[in-house]
Amino acid sequence: MRIGVLTGGGDCPGLNAVIRAVVVAGHRVHGDEIIGYLDGWRGVLERRSVPLRASRTGDLLAKGGTVLGSSRTNPFASGDGPQRALDNLAEDGVEALVAIGGDDTLGVAQRLGVMGLRAVGVPKTIDNDLWGTEVTFGFHTAVQTATEAIDRLQTTAESHHRVIVCEVMGRHVGWIATYAGIAGGADEVLVPEVPFEVGAVCERITHRHERGRYSSIVVVSEGALPAAGADLEAATAATSSGPVDQFGHAQLGGIGAWLAAEIQRRTGYESRHTTLGHIQRGGTPTAFDRVLATRFGVAAVASVHEGDFGTMVALRGGRIVRVPLAEAVGHPKTLDLTLLDEVAAPFLG
Ligand code: F6P
Repeated sequence: MRIGVLTGGGDCPGLNAVIRAVVVAGHRVHGDEIIGYLDGWRGVLERRSVPLRASRTGDLLAKGGTVLGSSRTNPFASGDGPQRALDNLAEDGVEALVAIGGDDTLGVAQRLGVMGLRAVGVPKTIDNDLWGTEVTFGFHTAVQTATEAIDRLQTTAESHHRVIVCEVMGRHVGWIATYAGIAGGADEVLVPEVPFEVGAVCERITHRHERGRYSSIVVVSEGALPAAGADLEAATAATSSGPVDQFGHAQLGGIGAWLAAEIQRRTGYESRHTTLGHIQRGGTPTAFDRVLATRFGVAAVASVHEGDFGTMVALRGGRIVRVPLAEAVGHPKTLDLTLLDEVAAPFLG
């Protein structure tokens, strides 16, 4: 069988491990021929692909990023895009497509599936916000990176008796902030799911410092915002910038800097901010993510060979299952708030 594979959206540690698993399992187990489209859906629209051979995948397992390249190209952003994508895949003789991506990339696969594409999705995103799977590969690595950064921020914050605000990724959800906040012993964790009161944050920091702890670590998701009023307006103006991408997303960033300045102004405590940004996306995947990525890749090939299209492979209860793409896309998997309310709460403030 001739199988196409692509990686779309923001890159993520473990993408290459999935590619390797698809190529090796496809070739060695089923005798498949695999071609990789370059730069996500853009490669399909421009008919740019490369043959992928099992013998050439040796160094992929531990390599960060994606050797196929990625983009946020949306075929549905142009009138003839969807049909062009289907025609190009047909002309290339692609009988099934493994799409590795987040909500946007898999949303395109689902919509093209309605038009006849035989697609299987693999859930990717450091944000861990894809519905239907308990965890996406890349999340574990991003949390590890953010936790190591918070560990380092703790010691310099203590030395200088400062408040340090650490901004982590998470456009719609606070999974990275919460996991890294718990693992790094943060004093405040602010997430998009729970709009925050700047005044209350400052009060807790002041109370904490009056109790004799002269440093604080605040972890904030890039998508977190104050609840309402002038703070919301000011923070919104400080955080989204530039044109939106083809899926309608503005570039985020800046809440950490804004919040650190507000904390210093309102409490009088010297405050600094650090934005971890793409450091969380780059680099080699953890062992957990390598294993999960490999399981997903092998399972995607099995799904193709069983003719189970329009599905996404997923992790549930420790097992790999398949969920309909139509159920998985379009609504982010928001944070399990018990993590904040029950697990993190005793350590915050
Ligand atoms: O992949 C998701 C994500 O990491 C979001 O958390 C973040 O807002 C976005 O990607 C950043 O994307 P870009 O690399 O296009 O700036």
